Amino acid sequence: MKRSYKLSISIIGLVLLTPLAVFAQEAAPEARMNAAEQYLVWGLMGLEVLLLLVTVILLIVVKVLGNTLFPRTNVSVAGELVEPEKPWYQKFLTKVNDAVPVEREAEVLTTHEYDGIYELDNNLPPWWKAMFYVTIAFAVVYLLYFHVLQLGSFQEEEYEQEMAQAKIEIEAYLATANTIDETNVTFISDEARISAAQTAYVQKCSPCHGAAGEGGVGPNLTDDYWIHGGDVKDIFRIIKNGVPEKGMIPWKSQLTPVEMQDLASFIITLEGTNPPNGKEPQGEPYERSEEMALK
Ligand code: HEC
Repeated sequence: MKRSYKLSISIIGLVLLTPLAVFAQEAAPEARMNAAEQYLVWGLMGLEVLLLLVTVILLIVVKVLGNTLFPRTNVSVAGELVEPEKPWYQKFLTKVNDAVPVEREAEVLTTHEYDGIYELDNNLPPWWKAMFYVTIAFAVVYLLYFHVLQLGSFQEEEYEQEMAQAKIEIEAYLATANTIDETNVTFISDEARISAAQTAYVQKCSPCHGAAGEGGVGPNLTDDYWIHGGDVKDIFRIIKNGVPEKGMIPWKSQLTPVEMQDLASFIITLEGTNPPNGKEPQGEPYERSEEMALK
């Protein structure tokens, strides 16, 4: 009986763990999967772990129920009843709790009484004491590590290290950002950047191009007609260098290349919005390629 029980636990455990093990063996399997597949795999693994837990809990319940309903009695060869051996977990619990069983409570009863409630003089539970000792040991190690040998860095230092690292990364980013010009600029669809560009547009460009790009002193930016070309590179070039003789200001000294890229992309998103009071088209129609035709 006992043997078959252990065997069944091992088999269930093995069956449930095999896919996990197989997955763990593959080198960086995420690299070959798209997001949906990754979610599926992680979801399945979560389910797997859950199943494993449920199985373990069920096995424990079955075991405890079995022991309660059918307590083991050991009958010796001579025929008299011997105290049945306790299961391992009960022995373990007795050991770590060091609790006196209810029937022997009189041995630890003190004379302290409050409204008929007596105090017991139990030992501190060994599991609790063990944790306490661990904290003491931890404190000693911590003290040596951080304060005496000064091997670790404190939060403030870590903060400064991270800020220094971030500064390096920002500089690296700006170095590439500053290399954006009208020959290599691309359309960006990042929503946060587009909406930041919209704010800048309202402040700097709407007086001449209209709040919704419908046009005014400057041309309508929402139609598909462009005087200087409708490609993101053309639009970037005009924002950067302007057309001073026609009243379009050059913005290169006031805006960073990234800001001009964002503005150029924002203007492309305006195309086809058809706001009221739109100024009549100027220039030539421009056909936008698929990936930039947003609407
Ligand atoms: C002082 C008025 C004024 C302001 C401010 C202004 N523009 Fe212009 N913009 C013009 C005029 C005028 C033209 C037309 C130039 C031409 O006819 O060649 C123009 C043309 C353009 C064009 C080219 C349109 C085409 O059909 O080829 C773009 C793109 C543009 N502006 C973007 C902007 C952006 C972005 C801003 C804000 C950063 C801005 N403009 C601010 C007056 C202005």
